Amino acid sequence: MDFLKNNCTLYPFSETLIRNCSEFDCAHDDLNEFFKDDCVNYSNELLGKTYCFLLDNDLTKVVCAFTVSNDSIKTNLLAKSKKNKISRPIPNIKRTISYPAVLIGRLGVSKDFKRQGIGTELMNFIKGWFIDEKNKTGCRFVVVDSYNEPIPLEYYQNNGFQFLFQNEQEEKENTGKENITESLKTRLMYFDLIKLKG
Ligand SMILES: CC(C)(COP(=O)(O)OP(=O)(O)OC[C@H]1O[C@@H](n2cnc3c(N)ncnc32)[C@H](O)[C@@H]1OP(=O)(O)O)[C@@H](O)C(=O)NCCC(=O)NCCS
Repeated sequence: MDFLKNNCTLYPFSETLIRNCSEFDCAHDDLNEFFKDDCVNYSNELLGKTYCFLLDNDLTKVVCAFTVSNDSIKTNLLAKSKKNKISRPIPNIKRTISYPAVLIGRLGVSKDFKRQGIGTELMNFIKGWFIDEKNKTGCRFVVVDSYNEPIPLEYYQNNGFQFLFQNEQEEKENTGKENITESLKTRLMYFDLIKLKG
């Protein structure tokens, strides 16, 4: 499905864009608030860059939006089995404790366009950026701190992401959250971009 490719254009989020577009609503209050009030400041602070796809025949309509930042996977923080799993496809001589990654900090599809394969097309687009020869830095993994909710978890799994930690307890213990008694609000997941290299 090529809806974004055929009907939309990518733009960086800016104050002007926010002013000129109708309010983006991906049916998630925290995300809506971020895209409306915080993402430009985030970008100004060099903490994350936000982009969106606008409909070509209605440039006030944001179809989907996402924020990306540099990140890394530190294998010394992982359980041995996961560390082995992540390192196995990497040649011995190149194995290290920290692998370059890109973090998808925020991602949402407008509620008017959900369940049409756009989230998946967007994910393929983002993955494509980081395996493109023109990408200026090495980037092996895509990581995300997914909302610990059924739809986003299923969405990321459906798009090839795996949990960095086997279960919530392991994630709590390895990310300084051992004192949190309730369920985690987010779960760390990753995708190995080498799978897409021809
Ligand atoms: C999660 C989200 C990005 C999915 O976008 P989308 O365009 O609807 O996703 P797609 O149509 O490409 O669906 C891809 C897969 O996601 C899962 N999925 C998406 N919506 C779902 C739903 N309502 N119920 C169950 N699974 C769902 C399914 O596995 C689906 O694959 P399938 O259609 O083969 O069953 C969108 O629902 C969204 O913006 N949610 C609010 C914000 C959010 O949770 N962002 C991610 C966390 S940072």
